[in-house]
Amino acid sequence: MSQSPFLIIGATGTNGRSVVDSLEKKNIPVRALVRNRDAARRVFSTSVELVEGDLTQPESLRRAFSGVDKAFVVTAVQPNTVELFKNVYAAAREANVSQLVKFSGLGASASSPSEIMREHGASDDLLRESGVPFTIIRPNSFHQNMLWQAQSVAQTDQFYLPLADAAQSTIDVRDIADIVVNIMIEDGHVGKSYGSDRS
Ligand SMILES: NC(=O)c1ccc[n+]([C@@H]2O[C@H](COP(=O)([O-])OP(=O)(O)OC[C@H]3O[C@@H](n4cnc5c(N)ncnc54)[C@H](OP(=O)(O)O)[C@@H]3O)[C@@H](O)[C@H]2O)c1
Repeated sequence: MSQSPFLIIGATGTNGRSVVDSLEKKNIPVRALVRNRDAARRVFSTSVELVEGDLTQPESLRRAFSGVDKAFVVTAVQPNTVELFKNVYAAAREANVSQLVKFSGLGASASSPSEIMREHGASDDLLRESGVPFTIIRPNSFHQNMLWQAQSVAQTDQFYLPLADAAQSTIDVRDIADIVVNIMIEDGHVGKSYGSDRS
């Protein structure tokens, strides 16, 4: 029997693309949820199955989850993030998946002073209560964020971060992707949240 595909939501983004690459290197079949199939076809190899869908459209998520056993979701920060995650949890529950890996962030907590981390905290809590077998990862800042400073470095030889005297660790998204894939193929990660709820 052929292996059911791993569904990757947010596949065209910084982390999603890395997760797809990492899965492909292990010859694991990938289904990518994308908003524009033609644009995505230019990005991914033909071995990646593309399914058009949108987190705002529950019916498209139901289609994407059909026949899927394991899934990963990352999405961009946007005003209705909690509702979008709820749509994913409902589709995952209906499909009876054995694992949904949710991308959160270091310090995610419903009581965080940061709005983004409050939204992650609230959506992480909803996932834990949803009945869907889950794993939550809360990475710290990405190395790749440094590229936002490329123009400043090129033009002024200056590098700015809004951190004052704070220290900050970073992680390469390719390392996060390898961690995500290991979490999906190894036993023992369901019901776990990795990374602190304090920043
Ligand atoms: N920046 C950091 O240092 C940091 C650290 C820890 C955690 N995080 C978290 O990381 C996440 C962002 O990750 P990223 O940088 O990999 O994201 P990204 O590059 O912005 O990619 C977002 C992905 O979500 C998709 N998407 C957005 N809205 C959608 C919708 N309505 N329906 C379907 N797909 C949708 C995008 O598709 P399209 O290509 O169609 O737009 C894209 O594939 C956020 O949750 C953030 O809080 C960030």
